[in-house]
Amino acid sequence: MLLRGIISTPLPSSLRLKTPARHKTVAVSAHASIDTKTTNYSISDQALESRGFILRRTIDDLNLDDLNTVFVAVGFPKRDLQKIKLALEHTESLLWIQYSKTQRPVAFARATGDGVFNAIIWDVVVDPSFQGIGLGKAVMERLLDELSSKGICNIALYSEPRVLGFYRPLGFVADPDGIRGMVYSRKQKKRK
Ligand SMILES: CC(C)(COP(=O)(O)OP(=O)(O)OC[C@H]1O[C@@H](n2cnc3c(N)ncnc32)[C@H](O)[C@@H]1OP(=O)(O)O)[C@@H](O)C(=O)NCCC(=O)NCCS
Repeated sequence: MLLRGIISTPLPSSLRLKTPARHKTVAVSAHASIDTKTTNYSISDQALESRGFILRRTIDDLNLDDLNTVFVAVGFPKRDLQKIKLALEHTESLLWIQYSKTQRPVAFARATGDGVFNAIIWDVVVDPSFQGIGLGKAVMERLLDELSSKGICNIALYSEPRVLGFYRPLGFVADPDGIRGMVYSRKQKKRK
């Protein structure tokens, strides 16, 4: 998915959690085997809160229209709200960050799975205006922590080539032991 038409406004310095970095781009699908529980987050819950970012773990208070707007802003296709709702209801773990000033979601990630062995992470997004300040890492660290605390050690995701560099430091490796991901894909009918 390509980034299209994104207008990114620089954040006030009080909101910056760290210096925004320039990003490299690289390869394909990824997978993580997490053996240990992540205990040290790069940004604490308190530090997030002091900058107006509230961590949320349920869909209560999550405005799906606002979430869809973030999806679209990062280049994901606009989705039917009822389908998003259903998908989230079937989601094992999710985490999002609400910006207290606007009450809107600014970061999101979720995982589906069997609750025991396997999980797949989907929809990792950060509002373009809030990218590069550690929010993506903050949601991923906590989602991985939650999954591994349930004993789930096989955690996979699909990564666009340009985002592999984001996932690698979190413990993901592409094609572990030569294992290649395969996807059965059918073309979807175009929505009117
Ligand atoms: C990818 C995305 C979730 C990252 O979120 P973010 O909040 O901007 O990232 P963070 O600020 O938490 O960055 C954490 C670290 O990853 C690095 N990083 C972020 N994006 C990166 C990228 N595309 N490539 C390489 N490294 C990246 C940062 O430099 C930072 O490094 P540091 O910890 O050494 O300082 C966000 O840019 C996004 O929503 N992109 C569009 C949607 C998308 O592509 N989602 C993934 C679908 S596969």
